[in-house]
Amino acid sequence: MHLRPMTAADRFEVAELIYGSINVWYQTHGRPPIFVGGPRVTEVFYDVYDALEPGCTIVAEHAETGRLMGSCYYHPRKHHVSLGIMNVHPNHFGQGVSSKLLRHITDFTDRHDYKTLRLTSSALNLDSYSLYNRYGFVPRSVYQDMLISVPTTGMTQPPAGVDRVRHATARDVAAMAALELEVSGITREEDYHYCIANAQGFWHVAVYETPRGDVDGFVISSGAAAVNMIGPCVARTEDAAAALIWSEFNQHKGRSPVVLIPAERDRLVHRLYQWGARNCELHFYQARGEFKPFQGISTPTFLPETG
Ligand SMILES: CC(C)(COP(=O)(O)OP(=O)(O)OC[C@H]1O[C@@H](n2cnc3c(N)ncnc32)[C@H](O)[C@@H]1OP(=O)(O)O)[C@@H](O)C(=O)NCCC(=O)NCCS
Repeated sequence: MHLRPMTAADRFEVAELIYGSINVWYQTHGRPPIFVGGPRVTEVFYDVYDALEPGCTIVAEHAETGRLMGSCYYHPRKHHVSLGIMNVHPNHFGQGVSSKLLRHITDFTDRHDYKTLRLTSSALNLDSYSLYNRYGFVPRSVYQDMLISVPTTGMTQPPAGVDRVRHATARDVAAMAALELEVSGITREEDYHYCIANAQGFWHVAVYETPRGDVDGFVISSGAAAVNMIGPCVARTEDAAAALIWSEFNQHKGRSPVVLIPAERDRLVHRLYQWGARNCELHFYQARGEFKPFQGISTPTFLPETG
């Protein structure tokens, strides 16, 4: 195999690779498929990463056939690099393809002096756990993937503070960045601008504003067919996180979005149970390199991947 950057011509083959790789892995491990609706739904990964970070994508190509054996996205930001969805074609599982892709990204991280490479990986997937663990990642936080079937009429049982939640605008970006730096040690203003501008029509961004006018939390959600998810949510307090998450579920009436809640935040977890949430998976936040514990609530997402 040889590695090369992904190009626009790879868009559909990579979408098929992601769709097949994830679904085959889950179905051969006794779980339902993650993606439904056909492989075009996973073209969204190419579209979002290409818009946010053109060129930061890598594929492993079969030296003789030219077919793609694996792909991975990565996402350098001011203080860190995030590793996006990693996939190997099921015909090539267990042949070290992902090790080569991962080494490319760890080399990039080290060469550019980033202190941390971050990702979110399934705690049910020993193959990806082993891959990341061998290449220096350490699991630092556990998340419960909590799914709610949002009634078409909307959520009930609003928590205190929902009246403090409002739509975000580009004017909020500086405050969002300052908050995420304080809580999670990273910033990514380009991503917030991209989601607020919402050119694709499936993003929504909200902030939690205190009576003094401070931004104490924000949330982004995606209504894409392949990734119907609430996150990242970054907040100083559990009350602000609860108000943001509850309000954001209402952006997805009649659908079943998932949100990853830090397992140690048991009060928040139990609020979600009260709203009808069910656990559907567990994930780890993993960091290779510097790690600073979160100073508040930080929930990840898979698009664009944050860790
Ligand atoms: C997870 C996945 C990416 C792994 O890719 P792969 O190329 O099949 O991985 P390999 O089995 O060749 O193993 C990669 C490395 O982990 C090591 N490894 C694998 N299983 C291991 C175990 N149980 N214990 C210790 N090390 C292990 C391998 O030795 C290899 O390291 P090396 O190349 O330095 O020897 C692949 O199974 C996949 O695409 N799954 C579906 C999608 C997915 O789960 N993606 C990840 C989450 S986004």
